[in-house]
Amino acid sequence: MRILTGIQPSGKLHLGNYFGAMKPMIDSINDQDEIFCFIADYHALTTATDSDTVKNNINNAILDWIACGLDPEKIILYVQSDLPQIAELTWILHTVCPMGLLERATSYKDKIAKGIPATSGLFTYPVLMAADILIMQADVVPVGKDQKQHVEMTRDIAIKFNNKFGETFPLPQEKISKNIATIPGIDGQKMSKSYNNYIPLFDDEKVIRKKIMSIVTDSKAIEDKKDPDQCNIFALYKLVSTEKEQLDLKEKYLQGGLSYGEAKSLLFEAVSKYFRKFWEKRNQLEKEPNFVTKIREKGQERAQIQAQKTLNTVCKRVGLM
Ligand code: ADP
Ligand code: TRP
Repeated sequence: MRILTGIQPSGKLHLGNYFGAMKPMIDSINDQDEIFCFIADYHALTTATDSDTVKNNINNAILDWIACGLDPEKIILYVQSDLPQIAELTWILHTVCPMGLLERATSYKDKIAKGIPATSGLFTYPVLMAADILIMQADVVPVGKDQKQHVEMTRDIAIKFNNKFGETFPLPQEKISKNIATIPGIDGQKMSKSYNNYIPLFDDEKVIRKKIMSIVTDSKAIEDKKDPDQCNIFALYKLVSTEKEQLDLKEKYLQGGLSYGEAKSLLFEAVSKYFRKFWEKRNQLEKEPNFVTKIREKGQERAQIQAQKTLNTVCKRVGLM
C-alpha cells in the first residue's frame, strides 16, 4: 500500500495533537507499506499572517515530528513547496475540476465564517490537496474527520481526469481513525490551539508545569473522596502513565486525602517522564548543523522521483509533451 498524509505546519503542537494524530500515525507505520508524509506549507500560506512565522513553523514541524519518533529513513518525509511538480499538476487539475465541486466544499465556508480572508487560494485549496495525493499515486490517505470531503473531492477530480484523458490516477481512499478519544484541555473542553487551553508538547518545562497546575477542577476539599473519571487531571494522567500507576492514583482519588495540587504534580512528573526522551532528542536535533536543510534535501530527492514520473505521464496525456 502507498500511504500519504500531509500536515499543515501551524505552530505549537500540544498533547491533543500528539495523542490524537501523531502517535496513531507513527504507531501505524509498518515495513510493508510505503509512506509519504509531507509538510503542507503551500496550504499553510492560505491562512498565514507573516513570513517569519511560516518559516519557523516549517522548521519546527520537521523537528517536532522527528523528535516524536517519525523516522525519515523509513518514510519519505518532504516539504510540499520543495516539489515544483505539485504546483504544476495543480494547474492541470484546475482545468478538469468543476466549479460546482469547489462551491460545495464545507471547509472553505467554515474558514470564511471564522474570518479568514476569502482568497482564490483558500477557495481552490482542495485542488492543491488533490495534486498532493494524486502526484504520488497514493492508495490510502490517513486524515482527520474534517478532511474527508477533501479526499472525496480528490477522487472526483481523478475520475474527471481519467475519463477525459485515460486511466492515469488510482482512486485514493481516506482512512479516518475512529476510536481516538478527544483529549481534554486544561478547562475540560477539547484541547485546541484556538481555545488556548492546551498543554504544549515542546516548551520550557516551567511553562508546561504552569499549564498543568492551572487545570480546572471541582472545589472538593482535600479529605473528600473524588471521582477520577470526572477529573481532567486523571484523564490526562491516563495517557502518560502505566496501568499500575493509574490504579494507584485511582485509589488515592477514591479514598480521599488527595489534593488536586498533588494530583497535578503527579501528572507533571508523568508527562516529564513520558516526553523526556522527545525533549532531549529535539534539543539535540536543533543543535545539529543544517539538520532541517539536510532532511529537506533528502526528502526532495526521494519524493521527486515519483512526482516527476506522474507529471510526465500527465503532460503526455494532455498533450503538453
Ligand atoms: P487545533 O485544534 O489545536 O488547531 P489541529 O486542528 O491543527 O489542532 O489538529 C491537528 C491534528 O490533531 C488533527 O488530526 C486533530 O484531529 C488532532 N487533534 C487536535 N486536538 C485534538 C484533541 N483535543 N484530541 C484529539 N485529537 C486532536
Ligand atoms: N488539508 C490537510 C489538513 O488541513 C493537510 C493536507 C494537505 C493533506 N494536503 C494533504 C492531508 C494531502 C492529506 C493528504 O489537515
